[in-house]
Order: sequence, then C-alpha cells, then structure tokens
Amino acid sequence: MPRTITIFDTTLRDGEQAPGCSMNLGEKIEVARQLATLGVDVIEAGFAIASPGDFISVREIARSVRGPIIASLSRALEKDIDQAWEAIRDSERPRIHTFIATSPIHMEHKLKMSPEQVVEQTRAMVRYARNLCADVEFSAEDASRSDPAFLCRVFQVAIEEGATTINVPDTVGYSVPDEFAALVRAVREGVPDIDKARISVHCHDDLGLAVANSLAAIKAGAEQVECTVNGLGERAGNAALEEIVMALKTRAESFDAVCSVRTTELHRTSRLVSTVTGVKVQPNKAIVGGNAFAHEAGIHQHGMLANKATYEIMTPESIGLPHNEMVLGKHSGRHAFEERLESLGLKVDEADMAGIFAAFKELADKKKVVSDRDIEALALGRTRASTKHYALDRFVINAGTNLSSTSVVRLAKLGGSLSEHVAVGDGPIDASFKAIDKIVGRSIVLSDFSLGSVTEGKDAQGEALVRISVDGEHFNGRGLSTDVVEASIQAYIAAINSMVSETGVRDAARNAP
Ligand code: KIV
Ligand code: ZN
Repeated sequence: MPRTITIFDTTLRDGEQAPGCSMNLGEKIEVARQLATLGVDVIEAGFAIASPGDFISVREIARSVRGPIIASLSRALEKDIDQAWEAIRDSERPRIHTFIATSPIHMEHKLKMSPEQVVEQTRAMVRYARNLCADVEFSAEDASRSDPAFLCRVFQVAIEEGATTINVPDTVGYSVPDEFAALVRAVREGVPDIDKARISVHCHDDLGLAVANSLAAIKAGAEQVECTVNGLGERAGNAALEEIVMALKTRAESFDAVCSVRTTELHRTSRLVSTVTGVKVQPNKAIVGGNAFAHEAGIHQHGMLANKATYEIMTPESIGLPHNEMVLGKHSGRHAFEERLESLGLKVDEADMAGIFAAFKELADKKKVVSDRDIEALALGRTRASTKHYALDRFVINAGTNLSSTSVVRLAKLGGSLSEHVAVGDGPIDASFKAIDKIVGRSIVLSDFSLGSVTEGKDAQGEALVRISVDGEHFNGRGLSTDVVEASIQAYIAAINSMVSETGVRDAARNAP
C-alpha cells in the first residue's frame, strides 16, 4: 500500500515573503480557494504577527476556506503564538506552525542563545502552542546545517510536548539529495518518539536542488513536503509543488507514495499565482512552463505522431491543459464558447459570462483563430477583476521617433462621471500612466512592468503585468489587448482598482469582530 504524502503549501507565506511577490487580501483569498480546489492538505496562510495586513489575511482565509488545514507561522515566542492562534482559531482545521533555529551559526549570531536555551524554548513554546491548538508543527530552522544529534534532541522535546509534525528545513538550500535523505533517516532513527509525529521537509532552491532534496527525503521516509506553486519563495525559491506532485504521479513506482492533489488543477493554479504576483513563469519551467509540452523539433514531432509516448512522459491533459481540435472564431456562438469554457475547467459566474463572451467576440474580430490560451486569459482576467472604480473610456496617443510622446486618457469613474487628462512622457505607455496619475490624484510608483504575448503570431493578444506601489504597499494589475498600449493602460487601471478595493476591504475587515 503506497504511503500518502501530505502536501503543505506555503505559497501564501514563504512564497509571498519573496521580494516582488506580495499579494493583497482579495488575491490571497482567491489563491487560497484555488489551493483548496487543487486539493492541497495544508495551506500556510501567512505569518500572522508579521503585520496587521498578514494577520487579517490569515484570519480571513481561516474563516472562509474549507477543506485543507489552515496554518499560521510563528516564531517560538508567546506573543507570536498568541497572534497565530487568534488568526486561525476560526478555521475548522487550525494548525500553529512554530519554529526556532538549531544550527550553531543561527543560535550564536541570530538568536544569541545557547543550545540549552534553544531546547528549553522549544519545550516551553511547543507546550504553550499545544495548550491552544491540537495541531502543532515544530520546525528546526536551518536543520540541514545543525548537528544531527542536537536536532534529534530538539525534535524529541517537541514531540514530548505534543508537536504533531516535526519539520526539517533546508533553510538556505545548502543540502544535496543523498545527504538530506541521510538526515531524514537520522531523525527517523534518532528520535525515540518519532512515531508520534509526522516528519516534514521544507527545501529551498539556492542550488537548484529543492525538488530533488524533497523527493530524496520522501524516499527516506518523510511524510509531508512543504512547497510553493511555481517554486516561489525566498531568494531562489522553495520546492515547486507542481514538480513534486507530478514526480509522485509519473514515477509512483519509484516512490511507492501518492498524494491527494488534483493534478488537472495545476496549470490553472500556476496561472493564477503568476497573474496575482506578476511573476512570470519561465517558458522552460518543468510542468507549468509555456514550452513544457511543446514539441518543436521535427524528429520529435515525427515520433509523437507515430506514438505520443515516444517523447511524452505526461499528458498535457493531466495538468489541466486540454487539447481541443476544434478552434473557435468569430462565427462561434455562445453555446460553443460556454462548452469550451467548461472543457477548460473554467468556472464563470453567470454575471461575468456576458462580459467574457463580448470580449471573446471582440477578440475574434481581430484574430482569425481564438486559442484555448486566449480564452483562458480572457476568463482569468474577468473572473478576478475587482470593482471597476476606474474604467478606460478612451485614449489617444501621439508617439514616434525624436519626439516626446503625449497621451490623452479618459476614464469613467464608478458612478459614471468621466475624467480626462493629458500628459507628456518617455514613450506612449509612460505618458498614458502619467495622465492616469493625474486623474486618480495619488502618488503612484510603478515598481514593475512586463509585456508578453498570450500566444504566438503577429495578431496575438498582448498581456501586460503591472505592479504599483502606493504609500509603501504593492498592488498588481493585468491587462489584455491585441494593442499593447491598451493592454498596459488596462493593467495600470486594474492595479489602481485593486488598490482602491483593497483599502476598502481591509478597512471593513479591520472593523469586523
Ligand atoms: O526556510 C525555513 O526554514 C522556513 C521555516 C520557518 C520553516 O521557512
Ligand atoms: Zn522557508
């Protein structure tokens, strides 16, 4: 009977902690809901004490997302644990995840504690957490650079005090697979009460070995892996969830282990996380990269036509990338369009359907063939659009070589009034953003901007991702259009709408009991 590996997703904590990956409250809830649909076992929703915003988002996820265990991280300190518990206590399945470092370098230079003090702090804080919550995970930060005998001693104390999971992090991504597997085996053999807890691992990708280390740990007996969608995370990131899950599925016989993730939701989850964080997935990324299932070389295509298994070890359908022979175009009706949405697994509210269909028709007028990727991009934009405090009414640009660009932008405000401004800038996009700033009347910093295309071809839709910073907080927006200036303007407005909505939602949540 294969073992079932617990998939612990930390996209909303370790992933979100990475520079440039922050998400707002609405986005975090949306990602958490998708993670529940994906079927992860545990969602680490955040680090409740880190900021009031983090606390609110952990609490709202704990209150609204059903299915997975909802965890909050906390240092091994009473005030952290109290805050974590306050944030997750309304979940049907709460978990406190507390940690302290156990490596000599961390104990001496960061904690300024002796090993004995670390043991006693572990004892006191796991006991404290356990008095609040029945499910307590204890992590020994920098475990891979800790003395294995000391690590086992700390884990034993944590288990004696009631820890239900003990986690072995490779915090700085220093370990290599055989060594990390040996460490897991040392923990299995060296902690007397190990049978009373689950062994977890948490690997970082500094040497590009996070997934390899996690899989080696599974072979050595780990029962939980901590990972993030698209491998987001501190520095080089964490182990990529989609890679671990597909390795377990594709090479089940090698691991003699399974997990409960619905792999057909992987592609959608990856796209959502990429959209809300504004962090693009590299084309050659395993499983979810744009090229992961593309077979360009003639010799490969020849083999694929003869028998797909020649070059395909997983099907695109298995990660939720269905292949439809029938293409949609301007003559396709609403029924065919709705069927295609359904076959792509895209759930669209009745209220959004008319808008998405209109956007599809408009696109079909400009492009001969509307691909599944186009449809998915349209639906993703529409279903996650926040309230349109501002909407683009029209814009006119004047741009060219050796002249400053000017842009006149007119926005419709919620309620219907129109506001127009003109600005000069370094290129048409800069000029347009400046004109919008004048309309909105806020000091907006553009912290990131990227332009890509949804599909190949000259008539492809441009996809713009914008990240703005307002009063030190970040907001993301996405825009789609066959005109890249319009896509950029739409993305900028979406980020501003997210900022206005977020402030409102957060104020409401802050005042909630
Ligand atoms: O990398 C790490 O050590 C962590 C722990 C807090 C689990 O993220
Ligand atoms: Zn980490």
